[in-house]
Amino acid sequence: MRPMNAAFEIALPTKDDLPGIGELYRAVAGVEGGLARTRDEITDDYIRHNFAASRDRGVEFLATIGGEIVGEIHAYRPTPRVFAHVLSDLTVAVHPDHQGLGIGRALFARLLATVEHEALGVTRIELIARESNQRAIRLYESLGFRIEGRFEGRIRGVTGSLEADIPMAWIRGRRGVGHP
Ligand SMILES: CC(C)(COP(=O)(O)OP(=O)(O)OC[C@H]1O[C@@H](n2cnc3c(N)ncnc32)[C@H](O)[C@@H]1OP(=O)(O)O)[C@@H](O)C(=O)NCCC(=O)NCCS
Repeated sequence: MRPMNAAFEIALPTKDDLPGIGELYRAVAGVEGGLARTRDEITDDYIRHNFAASRDRGVEFLATIGGEIVGEIHAYRPTPRVFAHVLSDLTVAVHPDHQGLGIGRALFARLLATVEHEALGVTRIELIARESNQRAIRLYESLGFRIEGRFEGRIRGVTGSLEADIPMAWIRGRRGVGHP
């Protein structure tokens, strides 16, 4: 069994956390094959936009260890009202030094618990993962997300060739893995 790190905490972000979230994302983007954005594409605007959109029409959580931000997850509703029940644009990132310790799973658990227990009216959460990120895809499947198709040749891979992007969704109340 992999070790569990009991020392991390899950928290709601404030504006003061924006620089720390930016640092986290730049560290995570420094390792190719996970996030779609490269390090130089993690701009302050991008981090601010995620914070504002998640605050106004979605959710965002941080994982911290001793006050340092080591993980983040966010997702938010598309603006057209016909998508008011959907959380989209989900991104999750755990610092490379702290991956494999249960932090990503804990961030998802908090997000899913919020959707299950708070009256947000969300019935669908969607995300996209590159096909080679099997570790992430397995994690999402174990949480109840299902693969909904295959966007062939959508994303450039680490070697420069194109690979498939895999759309996945979690549906509220759907039974199966992650919904005992
Ligand atoms: C994907 C990511 C968010 C997962 O977070 P994490 O904290 O590393 O994952 P966890 O420790 O919570 O583990 C969750 C699952 O991932 C898999 N996993 C974790 N560490 C692993 C490792 N070292 N080797 C293989 N699988 C591993 C396991 O399936 C694990 O399931 P388990 O809890 O049943 O053992 C994180 O690794 C990350 O930020 N990666 C880079 C960015 C990225 O890929 N983001 C997602 C883009 S779609």
